[in-house]
Amino acid sequence: MKIFNAAQIREADRLTIIRQGISSGGLMERVGNEVYLWLKNRFPDKETVFHVFCGKGNNGGDGLVIARLLRNDKYTLHLTIAGENTPSPDFAANLEKINREGIPYNTTTEISSYGKGKAVVVDALFGTGLTREPAGEYKGIIEKINNSGAYVVSVDVPSGLFLDRPTGFAVKADEVLTFQFPKLAFFLPGNYRYINKMHIIDIGLDKDFINDTVTGYYFTDKFEAYRLYRPVPYYAHKGTRGHVLVIGGSYGKTGAVHLAARAALTSGCGLVTALVPQCGYVPLQASFPEAMVLTNGETHLQEIAFALKPAAIAIGPGMGTDEETQQALHNFLFDNKIPMVVDADALNILSENLQWLELLPPKSVITPHPKELERLMGTWNDDFDKIDKLKAFSKKHSVIIVAKDARTLVVNGDAVYVNSTGNAALATGGSGDVLAGLITGLIAQQYTPADAAVFGVYLHGLSADIGVAETGTQAFTASSILHYLGRAYLQAES
Ligand code: ACO
Repeated sequence: MKIFNAAQIREADRLTIIRQGISSGGLMERVGNEVYLWLKNRFPDKETVFHVFCGKGNNGGDGLVIARLLRNDKYTLHLTIAGENTPSPDFAANLEKINREGIPYNTTTEISSYGKGKAVVVDALFGTGLTREPAGEYKGIIEKINNSGAYVVSVDVPSGLFLDRPTGFAVKADEVLTFQFPKLAFFLPGNYRYINKMHIIDIGLDKDFINDTVTGYYFTDKFEAYRLYRPVPYYAHKGTRGHVLVIGGSYGKTGAVHLAARAALTSGCGLVTALVPQCGYVPLQASFPEAMVLTNGETHLQEIAFALKPAAIAIGPGMGTDEETQQALHNFLFDNKIPMVVDADALNILSENLQWLELLPPKSVITPHPKELERLMGTWNDDFDKIDKLKAFSKKHSVIIVAKDARTLVVNGDAVYVNSTGNAALATGGSGDVLAGLITGLIAQQYTPADAAVFGVYLHGLSADIGVAETGTQAFTASSILHYLGRAYLQAES
């Protein structure tokens, strides 16, 4: 699903009005009605007390429609209209309806503590039209909403949240009902505290405009993942399903290779070989019978690796960063042309030798966590600056970056993919090794590196979502991701 910016959303509204032959007031009524139906379904108890807060722009206009429909449906309504702005024409038209129907409202900000009980705040102060930090009365209302203890539902965007720059403070929404497209700002670490849950509401904006517009930002939802999925052909045999080589491990860290290699095989590739130091040979053979295991002994990495002719290579898990390993990595990169996923210690070595990045085959996938990313490309000022730097780094070095975080981003040049799956259970040792192996396994099965990165991140998160729904977060480990991967595939297929 594409992610649109504020200007593109305005254009989508404008074209929808022209092409569907409706008025802007008609669109506002449609939008308000969709939110009202959602609220009615979510809070069927007629004892629910709705506190609707409206600004005087079109987001406030949506709020007035919602308030009127809730009140007509016999919910208890407290409506507050805030601010000194000149009302937008569609807001004014809806205020007339409110007045005609004798619906009372306040223009002051009397919010005491509502308590969690049956109070629901509907926040329609600002939508995508926010241009400056809310001050004065607006600021006061946002603070009071956040301290009210009520359940908070924001209309389109939590009020105060900027879509294109860092946010100082905003409504902290339990749920956001966002229209047609998710907004990039929802997924940035600086904004996590403003959005607990997001729902996308289809308001029927013009399909041609949505299809034809290139946005550069994408949300990997179920449909996008399904589009990427390539089932195993009926006549496949192990030789046609791709051979993965995992290079890594060091004394005390062969488990990382085990997890990556197991992830590659569980992703569906035909064969996996682990290339580890001597100390890893017996543990790997004993614990992972499906894998072939080699040790580098006296030979150079690249001679062993290339003799195998793998379809894809994962390098780095548990590898260590000592002098000898650095030299071996350099020699290997110098000769290698096989598609590659570079993770963990291999990234740490590269961050000390940035010129070696030029040795990677174009479109190699790198999978840094935030600290590794910082070592590679330096610090960033804020989330938006980080995305600019990720794009520049991806283009300069021709790499696909899997920037791991609570919301992992995959960056391929100017294209940015935000993942929709995953949860806090993935914050556990070995989870990154599994991801690296999974993406490598997909590349070996002939996914493009970019598709493998996007789909791999999605599956990895979905496995955790399925697992946590079944067993909870606490006891979930990296091995659990592998346990649930089959079910994640089944969901991606359906
Ligand atoms: N303090 C005070 N005022 C502010 C601040 C601030 N910090 N920031 C912005 N404003 C003002 C703006 O200047 C603007 O007022 P102006 O028009 O007088 O300049 C107003 O607040 C903008 O407020 P919003 O309601 O956030 O923005 P807009 O009117 O553009 O509405 C919209 C946003 C269209 C509702 C958007 O969220 C959206 O696209 N939603 C989906 C579709 C929809 O709901 N459409 C509504 C009907 S159709 C239509 O709008 C054309």
